[in-house]
Amino acid sequence: MSQSDASAEQEAGAPGTRSMKEYYEIAEQVLPGAGLAVYSNPDDIRFVVHKGEGAKLQDVDGKWYIDYSMAASVNILGHTHPALAEAMTDQMSRGHLHFGNLNVPVIELAKELVDAIPCAEMVVFGSTGSEANAYALRMARSFTGRDKVMKFEGAYHGAHDYSAISTFGGGATETPHITNFPHGVPDSAGIPQAVQDTVLVAPFNDLEAVRRIIEEHPNEIAAITAELVQRNIPPHPDFHQGLRDLCDEFDILLIYDEVVSGFRMSYAGGQGYYGVTPDLAAYGKIIGGGAALSAVAGPAEILNHANPRRRGEDDYVFVNGTHCGNPLAAAAGLANLRELKKPGFYDFLNGQAEKMREEAQKIFDKHDMPVLSYGVASFWNVLFRDAPPRNQADMDASGDMIASKEFDLELVRQGIYVLPINRRYFSLAHDDEILEESLRRIDAACRVWTTTH
Ligand SMILES: Cc1ncc(COP(=O)(O)O)c(C=O)c1O
Repeated sequence: MSQSDASAEQEAGAPGTRSMKEYYEIAEQVLPGAGLAVYSNPDDIRFVVHKGEGAKLQDVDGKWYIDYSMAASVNILGHTHPALAEAMTDQMSRGHLHFGNLNVPVIELAKELVDAIPCAEMVVFGSTGSEANAYALRMARSFTGRDKVMKFEGAYHGAHDYSAISTFGGGATETPHITNFPHGVPDSAGIPQAVQDTVLVAPFNDLEAVRRIIEEHPNEIAAITAELVQRNIPPHPDFHQGLRDLCDEFDILLIYDEVVSGFRMSYAGGQGYYGVTPDLAAYGKIIGGGAALSAVAGPAEILNHANPRRRGEDDYVFVNGTHCGNPLAAAAGLANLRELKKPGFYDFLNGQAEKMREEAQKIFDKHDMPVLSYGVASFWNVLFRDAPPRNQADMDASGDMIASKEFDLELVRQGIYVLPINRRYFSLAHDDEILEESLRRIDAACRVWTTTH
């Protein structure tokens, strides 16, 4: 049987070569908790992906889900977009899978990033968003000669030690929300006290608290690092400009974590969307088109600290990695960016998200559910609340998170794939037909919810 006959048979029958049950039996033995990363859904709704197409995912037993996770925002063109497949196939056909050396796609991508990102005169590459954020902090420390950094409670900047502090609040999670700012709570065992002591935690959207913490630590803070839209929490209109002003007043660097917002909120990222330019920005996800690639963007004055010719100098910043500047990821990233640059892309993306926010709200209202459907740009948030949260304490305040999580799990049962309590992401493939099908499934989830709660 030829390979194409085999795959045709597989498509016609069971999508995977084994059943979901069989895959889980293996996964239970070889992966802790049969999981990947931090998420684990209850047994009745967890699934193993067979393939993605447009806005949909299919599991190995053949069930289709409408995907609103889009690989945690990565797949902004939808699954299996031909432009990405072509770019990667072309790259591979020329043997350019990986060189570990400067290569054409990565130089072209660097040029495109510098042209697009307001704060960028230069970029350095890594492989993950976590690395990019860790490098940005290291650069800030080298540039300012200070050790401490400030982050916001509830903000996620990756899995590295300086980020895994007060990422989660209470609510549906088990880590307590903090009350004695700026002392954070580690999200993981194994984070040294010395690291915890250098991370000051502030409440999001609270410029007074940020000022107080800065004044309590004069000349000690290298950088304030923030997401533009912090998970389910939109910024107050004056928040980002206020942060910029405080950083300027106290000679602190402002770092934006654009791993999600970069090339999603606008071609100029969250910094372009809000019109506030940081000193450094960390990018990931979309710039690799689904392959692993990340970057730190900023002025030459700071980025040159990572100049390999300066190795050995006191303020040299070590940036390295086997997969740095991987040509396959760079080719995919460039293909991605070419599509995003097409006229009308962001109007469509954000317009579809807005339609969904409004139409879903009508369904929640029809069912008398105390649920808010909201969000900015192509983010869609659904929480059991009557107003968007202002900070992590607000998110956790009323136990709303338990209901929100349970409702999200019901959505998954109905074939709407979301990560519980996480914002949802739109892609080019979320057209009107997908929206209508989604609304029918949301309505079905609401019917189940109201009869069981
Ligand atoms: C805002 C933000 N920063 C950083 C990261 C970490 O990126 P990565 O998972 O590529 O390490 C993520 C990942 O979801 C993120 O959402």
